[in-house]
Amino acid sequence: MKKLTPKELYNMWIEFFTSHGHVQIPSASVIPENDATVLFTTAGMQPLVPYLLGEKHPKGTRLCNVQKCIRTNDIESVGDSSHLTMFEMLGNWSLGDYFKKEMIPWSFEFLTSEKYLNIPIDRLAVTVFEGDSLSPRDEEGATAWLNAGIKKENIFYLSKEHNWWALGSGVGPCGTDSEMFYDTGKPKCCETCSPACDCGKYLEIWNDVFMQFRVEEVGGECKELSQKNVDTGMGLERVVCISNNLDSVYDSIIFADAIKKIEELSGKSYSDEENKKPIRIICDHIRTATNILGDEKGIAPSNVGQGYVLRRLIRRAVNYARRLGIKAEDLIQVSNTFIDYFVAYNPDVYSSLDNNRKFIIDELAKEINKFSQTIVAGTKEFEKQMANLKDNTIDGVSAFRLYDTFGFPLELTIELASDRGAKVDVEGYNKAFEHHQAISRQGAEASFKGGLSEANEVTAKLHTATHLLLGALRKTFGEHIYQKGSNITPERLRFDFNFERKLLPEELKTLEDIVNQAINDEVEITCEEMPIEKARESGALGVFGDKYGEVVKVYTMGDYSKEICGGPHAKNTKELHHFKIVKEESSSSGVRRIKAILD
Ligand code: ALA
Repeated sequence: MKKLTPKELYNMWIEFFTSHGHVQIPSASVIPENDATVLFTTAGMQPLVPYLLGEKHPKGTRLCNVQKCIRTNDIESVGDSSHLTMFEMLGNWSLGDYFKKEMIPWSFEFLTSEKYLNIPIDRLAVTVFEGDSLSPRDEEGATAWLNAGIKKENIFYLSKEHNWWALGSGVGPCGTDSEMFYDTGKPKCCETCSPACDCGKYLEIWNDVFMQFRVEEVGGECKELSQKNVDTGMGLERVVCISNNLDSVYDSIIFADAIKKIEELSGKSYSDEENKKPIRIICDHIRTATNILGDEKGIAPSNVGQGYVLRRLIRRAVNYARRLGIKAEDLIQVSNTFIDYFVAYNPDVYSSLDNNRKFIIDELAKEINKFSQTIVAGTKEFEKQMANLKDNTIDGVSAFRLYDTFGFPLELTIELASDRGAKVDVEGYNKAFEHHQAISRQGAEASFKGGLSEANEVTAKLHTATHLLLGALRKTFGEHIYQKGSNITPERLRFDFNFERKLLPEELKTLEDIVNQAINDEVEITCEEMPIEKARESGALGVFGDKYGEVVKVYTMGDYSKEICGGPHAKNTKELHHFKIVKEESSSSGVRRIKAILD
């Protein structure tokens, strides 16, 4: 197999798919745009949902890219050889264009041909859907693999649990898939060992999803889509790992500088087995935290949403750093090595890390400082618990309280207790943890209750309101005002723009009046596709950095707004009812933030 650096693999991917008629699209932000149903971008298809459902994409029907993705549901597995909370997904899409009989031979070619990955055929295993009442056994897929050259004994038929792909909520475009695995050469764990088990013999490297269905709301019926799509995703870190014949994704060039820095700071060696896991966890968490902080959207640690995940990652990294004898504030140096790595590796995708370096470092420092204070409070709580021990054991609920309220991971509590000759009721802790998860799950489901379509309708209206707000700001203060950030939840919009001072109450009132005037005028919202040069000439606002000749969408709202934008939007401004600003504050130096609602 070919030895590849991340950049070589990325270039190879783009070359392969552009040679098959695909257009490269940029990596979207890790914070989803205009989608309040998820915290992070978890797959390359996420920003493409409207197009997979049938809307026309301005760049055509064949797309490819690399997408930075964040998935924290497996955070407890991080530190093994392959789990990461942030990874890069190489992706390609057919939007109602080609389907299975093209995609499977292409996958085979990319994996095995000398020009591309050159993986020996017998090191590959693939899975296909075994069939159910909705979708038949995937004989077409299996035959395509067989004809391409995969051995019969390496094709596995698996159930819906394994070979069906949808976004986490189950809502949106979905369908059967065919996954590709690298056989690590480890012995079979049992007679029936297959890619379905997680013994480590088979490593998933690529997933071809055949999206021909959609689900409109949680638990809703699965309906046939009007178009047949392909959505694929390859894990870049994993392929770099196997291509360099390594045992773990952490052993590759991607983590080399960060690991060296951690060794330097701790005086401990990564090659010592006992240090591997803590070093990997620190690397993973600081890498992900750096990317959340450095995203164009500028998320900071907090107790809600993305900010909470970020907080947890930083605090967990601090706890592991502490174990290795690293001063918490020195983790900033680890973050800097990742910024340098990403910017050197792929400036097209990661230049925002360099631009936001100060914000990343300042926020990390602030959070580390806050956490040191929390540690003091947590230690007090721990001492209280130690003074009231029963059977020399910290009970599960108390251990969970230390985790949930004070940010002490279980391992830290066990370590501190064992230093004092006491034990922790791990089973009780797990029960308390599960109970808590069940409650949060109910909360998440409740927030989905209206279904994705309703949530999306609300976010589309708020999105329209942000365009009107920007128009109002420019009308009031001048054409030098630009959008600096935007975030929408089903409850409110948040809009950042360049402005030097606090806005006066009467200025806020003027902005509200202009937006409400637009709403009362019942303006039809129109969308037109045009080359970017024409959009620019027409006076549409937007980012003009992209390629010459590129086709973009321009949304026009009467004289109130004209912007290049991917949508979606309301159809008429009257759907917004009434616009109200609820807060105006500073976002960062020279940037103000407005929060507003529709009521
Ligand atoms: N969307 C598919 C996945 O994430 C490709 O596996």
